[in-house]
Amino acid sequence: MFYVFPTPAAIAEYVSEQMVQRICHQNKVVLGLATGSTMKPVYDRLIDKLKQQAVNLDGVYCFNLDEYVGLAADHPQSYTTYMQEYLYDHLPFVPGQLFMPPGFRQPSTQECLDFSACIQQLGGIDLQLLGIGTNGHIGFNEPGTPFDDRTHVVRLSAQTRADNSRFFDDKSEMPTEAVTLGLQDIMDAKEILLIATGAHKAKIMAELQSCSVDERLPASILKTHPNTKILLDEAAAQYLDPEQCTKYSSLLKHHIYR
Ligand code: F6R
Repeated sequence: MFYVFPTPAAIAEYVSEQMVQRICHQNKVVLGLATGSTMKPVYDRLIDKLKQQAVNLDGVYCFNLDEYVGLAADHPQSYTTYMQEYLYDHLPFVPGQLFMPPGFRQPSTQECLDFSACIQQLGGIDLQLLGIGTNGHIGFNEPGTPFDDRTHVVRLSAQTRADNSRFFDDKSEMPTEAVTLGLQDIMDAKEILLIATGAHKAKIMAELQSCSVDERLPASILKTHPNTKILLDEAAAQYLDPEQCTKYSSLLKHHIYR
């Protein structure tokens, strides 16, 4: 389940290739996408590959994991802006292919559930990308979130607000709430790739490896998913038990469509 790569660039190469292969070989692909600094190298490589190979994107649908509540969609730190800047503006998507959780004003419970239902109507997520917070959150499912939640509004933890305020010039603009896919929506994905890079993720990754499945560490639910890979660079893997890790090279022999 834990695969150690030499660098973030090597992870980006692997993950972007998985995405391209799916897009090329499936008539319809539903992607679950994340934001944050971890994903930037992945989207850079994905853009390069899709452009170089002139891949047809007509059958691709993209759903984001989360969005801040209370930021206008065009706010520089909204996840809508992030996705445009780092992925969508570089590729020939049309609006009906791209879905963001409804965050710019407080969404109703029904609007949240409609987002989960929309994914199901399109056949569910084929491939879900995840980062991880230093407190073990996935999406914005903070510690203590019930494992069976669907899309919902969350109050961001003090740790998440401290971690993410680095992106805001004016720290007072850092939102207190977000809307996120629930852990049940994430677990419904057919395949999940969680990426952790950098020494600041080393402690939580060691906890994740050794812990049992517990709502206090939201990512621990992934241990019960039948098709999840956790991809780490060496810095994030430094405290892991090497006996329970697999070298990345074993994965490269098993690209899904080769
Ligand atoms: C973002 C998301 C979050 C991030 C996590 C790590 O859409 O779902 O769970 O993946 O906070 O963020 P970075 O990559 O900035 O360390």
